[in-house]
Amino acid sequence: MLDKDAGILITGGAGYIGSHVVKQLGEAGYRNLVILDNLGKGFRQAVLYGELVVGDTADRERVSRLLQTHRIQAVLHFAAHTVVPESVADPLKYYGNNTCATRNLLQCCHEAGVKYFVFSSTAAVYGVPEGGVAREDSPTTPINPYGSSKLMSEWMLRDLAEAGGPRYVVLRYFNVAGSDPEGRIGQSTPGATLLTKVAAEHAVGKRDFVAIFGTDYPTPDGTGVRDYIHVEDLADAHLKALDHLAAGGESLTLNCGYGHGYSVREVLAAMERVNGAPLHIVEKPRRPGDPPTLVADASRIRELLGWTPRYDDLDFICKTALAWERKIAAGAAYGG
Ligand code: UD1
Repeated sequence: MLDKDAGILITGGAGYIGSHVVKQLGEAGYRNLVILDNLGKGFRQAVLYGELVVGDTADRERVSRLLQTHRIQAVLHFAAHTVVPESVADPLKYYGNNTCATRNLLQCCHEAGVKYFVFSSTAAVYGVPEGGVAREDSPTTPINPYGSSKLMSEWMLRDLAEAGGPRYVVLRYFNVAGSDPEGRIGQSTPGATLLTKVAAEHAVGKRDFVAIFGTDYPTPDGTGVRDYIHVEDLADAHLKALDHLAAGGESLTLNCGYGHGYSVREVLAAMERVNGAPLHIVEKPRRPGDPPTLVADASRIRELLGWTPRYDDLDFICKTALAWERKIAAGAAYGG
């Protein structure tokens, strides 16, 4: 296990997923956490542990200095752009931040002798997997620039490790949703596009309706199917990945999902159940870049990291997402 005093750099640690990981690292007793976030989409208040440094991962001098002064042994790299349709409209923004800035970070890590790297990748690297289910060895054929920008970073990590760079765990996230069950932090990203977030915003009256993008997909009810994973379970996978690397484990690429999917209609029905009132649902055309079905084969992460999800329950995911949205609406949480 990694020493509790080991320096850990968390890029994007003030963002939605990064902040949940920082919380769990802090709760686990890690004392030397450095969070590098440009606060473009993150929030100062989301950082419950460690030292927040406001800056950019593309800033090589800054990153190099941080790695040295804090004697960083492990880097968890969350900072990225993540919105599929935006990546279709503005691909260079995605290659710039998700690929080029990651390259800079990797160079700094290599030069500073960082030992371990945990990388936030995405199910979008698979594109449209056969049968809608992706295994880690399924072909990687992204259908949007977001997926391509992340896949290139995976390749850099792999090649750098071969050349003596950090050992790594690549975590390919499926659809992350929900918030801290204790309600301290949550999904407050401005201009959110995620289905559960949008539905929760509508439920509290921040939006007039929630749209279904596409009802003519080749899926059981015609709407897109995704593997929704609670952010707390996802965060736990990062701690397990660090343990694996610190114990001398080899570099790994792992899916992070539950292994079963829900359609857009099923997610909205769950949100209606926990909301206790119907939503105003409007059917719209397909959104560019969306695959019909994207579900994880999630057996490898359970087997290799001993990861066991605690919140594999769609209603619970929606409940925590809605609770956080209500807190924002009441002015009792950051974001809005
Ligand atoms: C999300 C992630 C992406 C990841 C992917 C893996 C973000 C911002 N996106 O994208 O990084 O690669 O999961 O599967 O973290 N939908 C609606 N109405 C809405 C919003 C969405 O019908 O208002 C539908 C979409 O068309 C899709 C499903 O809901 O079928 C999920 O969409 P969304 O929540 O935006 O996530 P992904 O695009 O799958």
